[in-house]
Amino acid sequence: MRICFVGGGNMATALIGGMLAKGFTPGDIAVVEPRAEGRDRLAADFAVRTHAALDAAALACDVLVLAVKPQQMRAALAPARGRLVDQVVVSIAAGLRLADIGRWLDGYPRLVRCMPNTPALIGAGTTGLFAAPAVSAEARAGVERILAAVGSTVWIDDEARMDAVTAISGSGPAYVFHFIEALEAAGAQLGFDADTAHALAVGTVLGAAQLAAQSHDTPATLRERVTSKGGTTAAALASLAADDFVAIVGRAVAAAEQRGKALGDALGADEGEKI
Ligand SMILES: NC(=O)c1ccc[n+]([C@@H]2O[C@H](COP(=O)([O-])OP(=O)(O)OC[C@H]3O[C@@H](n4cnc5c(N)ncnc54)[C@H](OP(=O)(O)O)[C@@H]3O)[C@@H](O)[C@H]2O)c1
Repeated sequence: MRICFVGGGNMATALIGGMLAKGFTPGDIAVVEPRAEGRDRLAADFAVRTHAALDAAALACDVLVLAVKPQQMRAALAPARGRLVDQVVVSIAAGLRLADIGRWLDGYPRLVRCMPNTPALIGAGTTGLFAAPAVSAEARAGVERILAAVGSTVWIDDEARMDAVTAISGSGPAYVFHFIEALEAAGAQLGFDADTAHALAVGTVLGAAQLAAQSHDTPATLRERVTSKGGTTAAALASLAADDFVAIVGRAVAAAEQRGKALGDALGADEGEKI
């Protein structure tokens, strides 16, 4: 499987690093990156082929991974218009819909949309994927191998649900970082220095997430197991419940999903149609 990345920034770098660690061959990977310094870095770090433009040599691939910013996508795709044959085109751009990418490619149908999240940068990502009907099962499996190189993957069968994926796992790391910040701030209020509060907060979130991932029990059961009647955890959870913690998170996720829909409209609008 020959893979060409369009855009050699943070996400392409994370994906290529993960792919090579999982046994992909550098000779099968190419990157289109306009900045010479970016091309030099990619070639030096990974021994992959680099191209300054999406030309015929770059398009000679099986999978084209679109790793530019959503706002850069339309211009980045222009050189590929009318020149795609049977490549699978995979967008990792947040918010952009396949209908818009397909329109910018003159109706090209073999499209996959992915929503990775930032833990992909350390190989611990969670990626939601959606494939258009024209993508074969074999092609889907190839795309899944690429994204699985930086974490876990979940296929979604309705593209409209990608805004919900974005709201849960795409934006989700920020909710967790915010929770860590809150725990650190609470630690500081209880008299810990910043380093100690950070170590206690991050270690707890990391350990609890690993326990939730490895345990056969549900998070609810794990929570109940740390909660003795009348104990310290029960006091904290009662305070969270009184402040409507679950509803607060639900409203935050709903706000993210709504924003995702609006951004999808704006990003996919052609010139003069932006909302
Ligand atoms: N970072 C994340 O954790 C994350 C998570 C989920 C999804 N995503 C998505 O992943 C995509 C890439 O994000 P990123 O953080 O990797 O962005 P990035 O670091 O800015 O990388 C994009 C790269 O594409 C290059 N580029 C610009 N125009 C191009 C063109 N016409 N042809 C080829 N390359 C071009 C940019 O060069 P210049 O710097 O010169 O413009 C830059 O090196 C985005 O669409 C984002 O929504 C990212």
